[in-house]
Amino acid sequence: MFGLGGKIALVTGGGGGLGRLFCETLAESGADVALMDLDAEGAEATAELVRSHGRTALAIKGNVNDPADVARMVEETDARFGRISVLVNNAGINVKPARIADTPIEDWDEAIGVNLRGVFLCTRACLPVMVREGKGNVINIASILGVRPFPEVGALMPNFPYGVSKAGVIRLTKEIAVQYAADGVRANCVAPGWHMGTNLSARWRETSWGSDEHRTYEEAITRVTPMARRGESSELKGLLIYLASDASSFMTGQVLISDGGICL
Ligand SMILES: NC(=O)c1ccc[n+]([C@@H]2O[C@H](COP(=O)([O-])OP(=O)(O)OC[C@H]3O[C@@H](n4cnc5c(N)ncnc54)[C@H](O)[C@@H]3O)[C@@H](O)[C@H]2O)c1
Repeated sequence: MFGLGGKIALVTGGGGGLGRLFCETLAESGADVALMDLDAEGAEATAELVRSHGRTALAIKGNVNDPADVARMVEETDARFGRISVLVNNAGINVKPARIADTPIEDWDEAIGVNLRGVFLCTRACLPVMVREGKGNVINIASILGVRPFPEVGALMPNFPYGVSKAGVIRLTKEIAVQYAADGVRANCVAPGWHMGTNLSARWRETSWGSDEHRTYEEAITRVTPMARRGESSELKGLLIYLASDASSFMTGQVLISDGGICL
């Protein structure tokens, strides 16, 4: 029921972080994997990992926010594998937290561009292939920050351009589900809480945060999470397999939250 043999997965942002873990998880469960990332070296390293599990891999360099790159990603995947069974819209970025009036317009544009427009572009490009095959499965990686703000973690920390982009991803998921159910395409979302072992916010956090800010932030998350810890990346593997496999065959338009209870 949970096997992915015969399925072709396409994972965006598969060159590192959760995306690499997802590619490996899909391969372990029997899928062949195409992956796209801005980071060509990271993408190739993930492809090697997929091959080490005996599966076929295709690494593509590209930007989810560039329609030409996205079109090439879908063409190359379809040409190599003949179909796309599962699209994992995972590529995402975070921007430096600030109040609305202090947020640079470029930060807003970047968060919405990669996290929301990117999901739209990749889904838009894959859907014709899925419709042609009469089946498909879209898994969007949203965030609990798309569910609600978290002022209890710190006034600014639950960064709003990121949160708004992820709220859009949740809404877009429901739209895909409704519009394409009759074509055999399902769409669901994973909304992870704070997970360790990725570089999501490293870009701004390492330059603008001191050790006190890091500690305050980590302590706040632990304090307000009923399970009193952050998640391990590996704790998202089961959700991905569930959503990618026929185990969830009657499920569409849903948001699965994995957050140690922080949203409660
Ligand atoms: N880590 C967490 O705690 C957490 C929590 C909730 C949601 N998420 C979501 O999970 C997804 C993966 O995040 P992560 O934590 O692994 O981050 P990460 O920064 O470690 O990895 C992101 C990957 O996406 C790639 N990428 C970034 N922009 C891209 C673009 N425009 N086009 C193609 N590739 C691009 C990066 O090169 C990198 O390989 C994101 O959508 C993120 O919002 C993560």
